[in-house]
Amino acid sequence: MSRLDVEEERSRLSRAESREIRRRSRRLLGSLVAPVRWRLLGALAVIVMSTIAQVAGPAILAFGIDDGLPEFLAGRPGPVLLIAAAYLGTAVVGALGAAWFTMLAAQANQRMLYDLRRRMYLHAQRLSLEFHESYTSGRIIARQTSDLEAIRELLDGGLNGLVRGVLFMSFTGVALVALDPPSGLVLLGAMVPLVVLVRWFQVRSEVAFRDTRVFSARLIVHFVETMTGIRAVQAFRTEARGAQRFAEHVEGYRAATSRSIMLFGVLDPGLKLIGNLSVVAVLLIGALRVVDGGLEVGALLAVVLYTRRFFDPTAQMAGFYNAYQSASAALEKISGVLAQDLSVPDPTSPVGLAVPRGAVDFRAVRFAYRDDRVVLPEFDLRIPAGQTIALVGSTGAGKSTLAKLLARFYDPSTGRIELDGVDLRKLHPKDLRRAIVMVTQEAYLFSGTVGENIALGKPGATQEEIEAAARAVGAHEFILELPDGYATDVNKRGGRVSAGQRQLISFARAFLADPAVLILDEATASLDIPSERLVQRGLETLLADRTAIIIAHRLSTVAIAHRVLVMEHGRIVEDGPPAELIGGTGRFAKLHAAWRDSLV
Ligand SMILES: Nc1ncnc2c1ncn2[C@@H]1O[C@H](COP(=O)(O)OP(=O)(O)OP(=O)(O)O)[C@@H](O)[C@H]1O
Ligand SMILES: [Mg+2]
Repeated sequence: MSRLDVEEERSRLSRAESREIRRRSRRLLGSLVAPVRWRLLGALAVIVMSTIAQVAGPAILAFGIDDGLPEFLAGRPGPVLLIAAAYLGTAVVGALGAAWFTMLAAQANQRMLYDLRRRMYLHAQRLSLEFHESYTSGRIIARQTSDLEAIRELLDGGLNGLVRGVLFMSFTGVALVALDPPSGLVLLGAMVPLVVLVRWFQVRSEVAFRDTRVFSARLIVHFVETMTGIRAVQAFRTEARGAQRFAEHVEGYRAATSRSIMLFGVLDPGLKLIGNLSVVAVLLIGALRVVDGGLEVGALLAVVLYTRRFFDPTAQMAGFYNAYQSASAALEKISGVLAQDLSVPDPTSPVGLAVPRGAVDFRAVRFAYRDDRVVLPEFDLRIPAGQTIALVGSTGAGKSTLAKLLARFYDPSTGRIELDGVDLRKLHPKDLRRAIVMVTQEAYLFSGTVGENIALGKPGATQEEIEAAARAVGAHEFILELPDGYATDVNKRGGRVSAGQRQLISFARAFLADPAVLILDEATASLDIPSERLVQRGLETLLADRTAIIIAHRLSTVAIAHRVLVMEHGRIVEDGPPAELIGGTGRFAKLHAAWRDSLV
């Protein structure tokens, strides 16, 4: 569990590694900002202008009272009117500028978020099976949800607030000092408790917020894993155990959240208190000086207004720190996923294959999932175009591994696999996907209709083509019996299909794709004998002009194969036409005899 947590992970990392992580994260940020930099600069210019206008207000007011009012009383209304107009002007410019800034900043921020969200999705989708087998779906979902949410919060709320707050406070401070240096000194004195309080808050809230994030990630991961494995959970009655662990995470989350809320409960009134005390001090000192004649009434009013408004953005800015912490941790984790290399990288100069014939060649292939255990030690295999191969062998022999290598879900550790003489690694990904299709036992259906699921094999296929493919594999009849036929939604009640029917649909999908090389890995395992016969009849015609590798424990498929390969411990131990092997005395002859006996 603890490996979920970047902070915990980080404490184990060396300094160089965490520096590299920060660099990686900054590079990502830079690449997100680059396309919107002009918009951001524009937003900055607008908010500087707007803040100057806002800060000018009290000073204009002071001028109006101290200089305009005596003129007005002496019967010259001109200056006062002018000052009133100026005051109104700054108010309008300040408000419009603030609105414009919000709009510009939102456009830039949303653009960056859109970019990041898309990049995450596209990259996660292209990362190898190897990555997804170790990085659980719960963690990927946490990246796509809570982490992106943390960044959104920073961009939408925190960052805007910070920029505005910093500008507002510095301009107000400058105006105050310019208008009345002694009051500036009072404000400087107030900065001391302010800094102490904010620092106290930051140190404590950093811990509380980190806990909140860790528990929220654990909640998501636990929830997703329970729900994706719900069948196993219910079958093995692990609900109570799961519920208890979940309750622990929920409790941790609750405690951490209330700790951070409590900290805000101290910070907020504390800031208000400092603000109010400063106003009182400025007012008292100022009033005494007005009595002495050292300060004018209008200036006093402006000074009090400045002091009061100076503290307005502080609470929000203290909150920014937390948003920043969450977002930078999130960015580090996201940049970690984005930095994952594709273990089956696209070729730099791809070779096209206009009309693949389907000749397959394994040349001195060696493959290991992990370095310490080789699955295919030294593998050579030539399959001429158009040949149908039945691949048999005991569990764990490496049949699926062979299939995954041929479909290029993995690349060989050494050696190479060729299709029509072209190394798979050099083949254009589009051509590769079109030429080689693998159908597995876990026939996955996407949400949508049955027809759409079949059409995935050939985007833009007509209804006739879809039905022809379904007919060819014997799926047409059962599809017609579904509530809406081909238009039945596979996720709706009534559209639910059985495991065998799902396989038939994925068969139709593969046949519609019409690949040069078709790999069926236990693809008929869920079918009953009559359905399997039906598929087999379809197979014979459909496999006629393509290379096919059929992996099956039921040996009925062997009848339609040109060639049988028996695999043990990652090696081919027998290779020949079915009749010859059955007639011989080897492993396959025994296997076949046992299988035939089991039928009667
Ligand atoms: N993702 C993986 N990571 C590590 N080892 C794996 C992985 N997948 C398979 N293996 C190992 O590779 C070996 C061959 O597995 P493979 O799935 O190719 O066997 P198979 O012949 O298809 O077996 P079955 O008939 O049961 O499907 C097994 O020892 C297995 O433990
Ligand atoms: Mg297998």
